[in-house]
Amino acid sequence: MALKDFLTVLDALIEQATAAFATAADAEALEAARVEFLGAKSGRLKAVQKDLGGVDKADKPAAGKRFNEVKQDLEALLAAATARLSGGGSTKSAEAAFDPTVPGARARLGHLHPITQTIAELCDIMGRLGFTVAEGPEVEDLWHNFEALNIPLEHPARDPLDNFYLATAAAGAGVPTGEGQWLLRSQTSTVQIRVMERTKPPVRIISLGRVYRPDTPDATHFPMFHQIEGLLVDRHVTMADLKSILHLFASSFFEDDVQVRFRPSFFPFTEPSVEVDMSWEGRWIEFGGAGMVDPNVLSAVGYDPDEVTGLAFGLGIERICARRHGIPDIREFFKNDVRFLQQF
Ligand code: DAH
Repeated sequence: MALKDFLTVLDALIEQATAAFATAADAEALEAARVEFLGAKSGRLKAVQKDLGGVDKADKPAAGKRFNEVKQDLEALLAAATARLSGGGSTKSAEAAFDPTVPGARARLGHLHPITQTIAELCDIMGRLGFTVAEGPEVEDLWHNFEALNIPLEHPARDPLDNFYLATAAAGAGVPTGEGQWLLRSQTSTVQIRVMERTKPPVRIISLGRVYRPDTPDATHFPMFHQIEGLLVDRHVTMADLKSILHLFASSFFEDDVQVRFRPSFFPFTEPSVEVDMSWEGRWIEFGGAGMVDPNVLSAVGYDPDEVTGLAFGLGIERICARRHGIPDIREFFKNDVRFLQQF
């Protein structure tokens, strides 16, 4: 092949490639052009390279030089076209697109979950009444969740259908392990026991946290919810103290003179036991249970029931929070839908 013919082919190639790269409207078109001209297997440049072998020997250096130039030009054209399509190509248009007068994106500030807010407020109110906050584990043993609370082995409250027993649990020194020895606590009353075991009376604590029960979710039930537990043990503590504490508590929280009503009930760990209702816009709403600590519970933690008496209560925090805000369905608390949460 004559040098002249070879150069003509190269010239035509670069002209067509320039047009193709410059007019490619999107990445897909550009890629098609790249394959056509620079494709490693059957690109047109590759085909021209094969012709190089047929050029007269004396003209080979000149043909090879031109071939390399064209190859580099094509690669540069491709790079420029890629930059153009990815938007970084033209600094001019990028500058034009930046408008310094447009207000910036507002940083979104989160806030505490309504249940967390309620917990903080309850701690505050009860703190003013002299109660300190105590904590206990959510994975509990049978002693603290049942036995010490006067709920013996044959009691229906221990039914596996009503509790989340754990198949296994971490072994610790002197700690029973194995199936059914541990559960997700079903009530915060467990913390009463934990506190009394490590403190001498008087005791004046609240404990707030999650509890777990295998309930089917509906407007008023969820398998995990929160309780506030209160415990006061001292000499001469009476049912009248219980009622006045709950009355003060409810009136502070709802910022109204809320009436508190006791209905007779039964809990294994209190004697007598009551259901606690509070008046709300002309209706009685049940918030939880309460009572005088059963002497068996005081004995279980080594207290002398002839020396001290105690009052205790356990209320549902979702219910308290839902009442305050008029939320009809407690499932809303746990959907994590920002449109709901940002209202509080
Ligand atoms: N633990 C009970 C429950 O979850 C609520 C309760 C009732 C707690 C009476 C108490 C109490 O401290 O004295 O249903």
